[in-house]
Amino acid sequence: MKRINTAVFPVAGMGTRFLPATKASPKEMMPVVDKPLIQYCVEEAYEAGIRHMVFVTGRHKRAIEDHFDTAFELETELETQHKHALLETVRAIQPPDMDCTYVRQPRALGLGHAVLCAEHLTNKEAFAVILADDLMIGESGGPGVLKQMVTQFEKLGRSILAVQEVPLEHVKRYGIVAGSPADSGLTRVSQIVEKPDPKHAPSQLAVAGRYILTPTVFEQIKLQPRGAGGEIQLTDGIAGLLNLEAVYAYAYQGKRYDCGAKDGFLEATVEMALKHPEVGAGFRQYLKQLQL
Ligand code: G1P
Repeated sequence: MKRINTAVFPVAGMGTRFLPATKASPKEMMPVVDKPLIQYCVEEAYEAGIRHMVFVTGRHKRAIEDHFDTAFELETELETQHKHALLETVRAIQPPDMDCTYVRQPRALGLGHAVLCAEHLTNKEAFAVILADDLMIGESGGPGVLKQMVTQFEKLGRSILAVQEVPLEHVKRYGIVAGSPADSGLTRVSQIVEKPDPKHAPSQLAVAGRYILTPTVFEQIKLQPRGAGGEIQLTDGIAGLLNLEAVYAYAYQGKRYDCGAKDGFLEATVEMALKHPEVGAGFRQYLKQLQL
């Protein structure tokens, strides 16, 4: 059975939408309640059976490496103080069977270019791409979004893009796919365009920040001219892939929070706080008594 062993996390972006918060610290380290965004994503990949995490980083992103490294002084301190629960929380960030690799994207040349920077670390196998701006929460008690996609991949052995319907006025924020219905929840993609004008959008099916891609995509990304803003788009590489292999869009079960924007980030914070075992009940009471 084909397996997905590697997840690529493009984390070199500057996070300008969250300035000043992101002036000196990575946007991927912003916490939703008590966990940085990137940790939610790594946990989602780990749950999907992936053990090799590849971070495509840039300058000012050292905090991400430190987060997934052993914090020896902190652990010793917590041990001495018998703070065992906290010690477990800290150690769980880095399970012993998980490997992290860091590679630099020297210039901001787009998502396609970021993915290319990880090519030599993917072993010529299909791999996952996770965009940390999109926080994806599976349905209560159900599998996470990437795990759902891996299950589909095990059946199809082809590239799979997570998609959701969005309002027409939002199509210009996303990669938009169109195609014909396949198995339940799946669409066989025949067209993909990056951030179309609503007037020309082929559908309202938007790509969310989770992909499983076959290695053929690398050659296709390399063939792409620079798109808007001088960027090499992943979407254009996938459009090239469509001519060579079947690509599927998968309507995932769960919820996506656009944590690349302030309103989405706040929605994620409120909803995750309400579900949080430690603060959830108290926070619910607090919200109820607010005069809104
Ligand atoms: C990127 C992709 C886009 C995708 C989106 C999902 O856009 O280019 O195709 O739909 O992520 O969040 P960005 O959000 O980086 O502009």
